[in-house]
Amino acid sequence: MTRNFFVGGNWKMNGSLSQVNSLVEILNNASVPSNTEVVVAPPAIYIDRVRQAVKKEIEVAAQNCYYKASGAFTGEISPEQLKDMGINWVIIGHSERREIFGESDDFVGAKTAYALSAGLGVIACIGEKLEERESGKTEEVCFRQLKAIASHVKDWTHVVVAYEPVWAIGTGKVATPEQAQETHAALRKWLAENVSKEAANNTRILYGGSVNGKNAAELGKKEDIDGFLVGGASLKPEFADIIAASS
Ligand code: G3H
Repeated sequence: MTRNFFVGGNWKMNGSLSQVNSLVEILNNASVPSNTEVVVAPPAIYIDRVRQAVKKEIEVAAQNCYYKASGAFTGEISPEQLKDMGINWVIIGHSERREIFGESDDFVGAKTAYALSAGLGVIACIGEKLEERESGKTEEVCFRQLKAIASHVKDWTHVVVAYEPVWAIGTGKVATPEQAQETHAALRKWLAENVSKEAANNTRILYGGSVNGKNAAELGKKEDIDGFLVGGASLKPEFADIIAASS
């Protein structure tokens, strides 16, 4: 099975209206290879603006959502509301949500379950911290986080897994293609052994952490790297190069 490449751009809490307009212009001028899916995740307040202005072949994601349809949950957005606004994807379990906002594996799993049930596609993030890698716990941590997500997924068609080593996020210290491939292969093997061969073969596993216009092509050549989740470089013109590098 050929897995279509997937390039996500996570803008995090960055941008102003004028920067958002410039980014949309870059996206609208970017050439998107036919075998590549591109999904950008603006801050919530700009989601609708981007959805209205960006070309239709580029999808828009939320950076987070809650696990209820509506109610007294100040500051939260529901998957139903995202769908209502034409949004089809959400990022769940980003390490910044886990670390800064205290989201547990169980909470990430519950949100994944609810988002999928509401019809969203989920970009599910996992990844180890530096001390965990240095103490040889990379697989243990990633498998634990993946298990908490996988236990809620019945249909893997609408899930992509983003492996983002925390030590590589926003640091300029990208994993080598070999380091990333090693973990991606281990994650795929985990899926084969714990979910199904079909899920292992078909699920896209993205790499995230200091991806840029220069290193994307080498990373993307690796057998088990099916795309990227890009932070900083998704706010720059080089995001178009990253999209192009995937063909
Ligand atoms: O969601 C994206 C990741 O956190 C990667 O961010 O490309 O700035 O390292 P970065």
